[in-house]
Amino acid sequence: MAGNIKVVVCKSSDEVAQKAAGMFIEQVRNKPTSVLGFATGSTPEKTYAEIAKLSKAEKVSFAKTISFNLDEYWGLDGDHDQSYRFFMNDKLFKSIDIRPWNAHVLNGKAKFPEVECRAYEDQILSVGGVDLWVLGIGNNGHIAFNEPGSPVDSRTRLVSLTQSTIDANSDGRFFKDPAEVPRCALSTGIGTIRDARRLVLLATGAKKADAIAKAVDGAFTPDVPASLLQDHPDCTFILDADAASKLKK
Ligand code: F6R
Repeated sequence: MAGNIKVVVCKSSDEVAQKAAGMFIEQVRNKPTSVLGFATGSTPEKTYAEIAKLSKAEKVSFAKTISFNLDEYWGLDGDHDQSYRFFMNDKLFKSIDIRPWNAHVLNGKAKFPEVECRAYEDQILSVGGVDLWVLGIGNNGHIAFNEPGSPVDSRTRLVSLTQSTIDANSDGRFFKDPAEVPRCALSTGIGTIRDARRLVLLATGAKKADAIAKAVDGAFTPDVPASLLQDHPDCTFILDADAASKLKK
């Protein structure tokens, strides 16, 4: 069952990025004080380049926006070149005029993870919730670092990574060796993500086809965390043809 998920299939990963960036630019143009949600990983990189380009070309300012990222590796501080704080500064924040103090990423070195996670949830609530959150998807169907089995009502917390995620993130794109990948992360929960008013999940490439087919056409189940978006009132999957190749016609 596809639930409410809207599926947009694009010819290329460039088109995925253009469509996704267009959604963010429109969101900020219509509501300059938008609360935005960001993801890391390879998939949204082109989208962030496109957002930076469009924000300059179309003079759409991010100065009044507030952002929250999905997750951060546990044990890495923001200066570590594999931390998600570093990634966001490098791929997006340095290229738009978002104020650094408004761009929130969980602190992977926080002394008390429970306090850090609770404060993050409170910060999201205190600014009225997230207007538009971009997500990627793991080969095993994870969203943020909510691995299979994560409850639908989970909130921001310290989680363990599965071997499949450790392997996927040490395939040469990020870490060189699985031994370097932190075993834990701070991650927003599925409940945290589902609270966003609008969600857009991006997926490109054949490796994602199984997870996408299960998320869209399969059962609503914690075994496939992305399937837990099926009853969200405003969730769009933007896919390239390879990622969409196993969807029911
Ligand atoms: C990262 C995140 C992860 C990734 C997923 C896909 O913030 O939330 O769920 O979106 O692991 O990663 P890529 O895009 O590298 O395939």
